[in-house]
Amino acid sequence: MKRHLLSVDDLSREDIERILGRAESFAEVSGREIKKVPTLRGRTVINLFYEASTRTSSSFELAAKRLSADLVSIKAQGSSVDKGESLKDNIQTLSAYDPAAVVFRSPHAGAAGLVARWTPASVINAGDGKHEHPTQALLDLYTLRRRAGRLEGLNVWIVGDLLHSRVARSNILAFGRMGCRVTVCGPPTLIPRGIESLGCEVRITLDDLAQADVVYALRMQHERMTGSFVPSLREYAAQYQIDGRRLGAGQLLMHPGPVNRGVELSAEVIDSPQALITDQVESGVVVRMAVLYELLAGGSGPPRRADDPSRPASEPQPA
Ligand code: NCD
Repeated sequence: MKRHLLSVDDLSREDIERILGRAESFAEVSGREIKKVPTLRGRTVINLFYEASTRTSSSFELAAKRLSADLVSIKAQGSSVDKGESLKDNIQTLSAYDPAAVVFRSPHAGAAGLVARWTPASVINAGDGKHEHPTQALLDLYTLRRRAGRLEGLNVWIVGDLLHSRVARSNILAFGRMGCRVTVCGPPTLIPRGIESLGCEVRITLDDLAQADVVYALRMQHERMTGSFVPSLREYAAQYQIDGRRLGAGQLLMHPGPVNRGVELSAEVIDSPQALITDQVESGVVVRMAVLYELLAGGSGPPRRADDPSRPASEPQPA
């Protein structure tokens, strides 16, 4: 496994299997009353978010804390970015604290890759513009495997605003790597040219949605739209909204959140037992623990004794 996690392309199938397995072992820690292991004691994790986030930032915070790291969380709003400090200066300033990892989100595609060149820390891409969001893809794999019992051979339809979605890119790659068949579907104006090259089929209607084992809906990303990509949200919903009529009884439903209720999903399916949306949020913590572990403590080798997640945090550790 590489030093940084910038793209799903940084991960082999074996890397993904190992991270999912590690997340399973951390799920056991999350079930305890004291949800902490000493793995990253004395090491520093910096969460640096230049763009809005609820789930990703809070789950990375919890993940770092449950691994006993020292955590600094910075939102661009309220930091010295407001005073005009450049990204590079900002990264070099924060690197002075000798962080082991920088978790970074930015509205600009490729920004996490730049950060990786400016700091000796491991950089985890927590979303860079329309480019990628690899830990979202990992937690989706984890959630789906738990519910469906397997990934190999599943038929996954990713529906909605593919053009502006970093989640779509990372998930097409990740589902494909784990042996799923991926179809993307949305209005032609919201499908990036050449997306097939990531390893998916393209549809512009939901006519064959019944083929899907899993329907993965994407949020309409208004904040990234400069023009008008659909005639109206009503029109969009009429053709592409996943609702009780379109979602078959045996199909699973996923969405990375936040959901625009009544746009890409109807209220009835969000709250149905087929929806994995809350499970996805819950999985974020253990999967991000596993990613931090992988990059900072584990690598592909066996866990060091003191890092063994099965040992309780209260146990005395060798100096
Ligand atoms: C996604 C994101 O920010 O890329 N949300 C998330 O991380 N759970 C998807 C989105 O904003 O639509």
